[in-house]
Amino acid sequence: MSGSAPGEQGNARAIGVFDSGLGGLTVVHELRRCLPRESIVYLGDTARVPYGTRSAATVVRYARGCARLLVQRNIKALVIACNTASAVALDILQAELDLPVIGVVGPGARAAVTAADQAEREQGRPVRIGVMGTLSTIRSGAYAREVARLSSRHEVHSQAAPLLVPLVEEGWLEGDVPRLAIERYLSTLLKPDVGVLVLGCTHYPLLKSMIAEVALRLLGRPIRVVDSAEATASAVHELLEQRAWHTPNPEAALQLLVTDLPDSFQASATRFLGDVVGSAQAVDIMPADG
Ligand code: DGL
Repeated sequence: MSGSAPGEQGNARAIGVFDSGLGGLTVVHELRRCLPRESIVYLGDTARVPYGTRSAATVVRYARGCARLLVQRNIKALVIACNTASAVALDILQAELDLPVIGVVGPGARAAVTAADQAEREQGRPVRIGVMGTLSTIRSGAYAREVARLSSRHEVHSQAAPLLVPLVEEGWLEGDVPRLAIERYLSTLLKPDVGVLVLGCTHYPLLKSMIAEVALRLLGRPIRVVDSAEATASAVHELLEQRAWHTPNPEAALQLLVTDLPDSFQASATRFLGDVVGSAQAVDIMPADG
């Protein structure tokens, strides 16, 4: 993590957050719970969602464009609320930008290892960690690498679940279609010794209760389902505390920016965040930025 002091008025500056679409709002939800007096500027790159089926080079290009747009909005820290972009672009953005950049894979892996240690103590046998994510995240091996860095105890099994992002973006969160897709993905992933299931895509927590229910039916026992939103919000909190950049701002606001279809995004955001959010503003990421 890099970054210089935000300077005068720096504490009141917003935290920038981006994702390909709606998924990053799961991180915004936790940030608002954990840091209710911080302003947030959220960018959903709805013109180019999904990221997870694209090559690493393309995702890096998209991530650079999103980051540049948010930096121009004078943010004090950047949260990559997208596992796909965190998996392939975190190091690059940390090296290129002069502000702290936090991804979701590290916090998610830490939460998974903690949960797996607990499950292992309770069950008295080795526990493996199952990770579902986009094609690009799974192909990158980022979760397996991060878990191995934190602990040598838990093997990681991974499964790409590419249909879940379009289902979430379409608002198909209930019924047979998401249930069958989840069942198909989990029946490959959930071997008997998998004790923790990581939702390695910020879109998946919107399907969390259905995922937990299908996992329970397939395994015949409950499984710990971990996502990175809460752990990422704690990491941001810690960063602001460490740097003394966290001063409650009574004017704190959430601003929504999208690269396409602002009205439908605003409606979904209001539904998901559970309160009335201001209208989403359409922005352009210049072609030169990807
Ligand atoms: N929500 C993002 C992630 O965590 C991106 C999903 C996508 O656009 O494919 O990976």
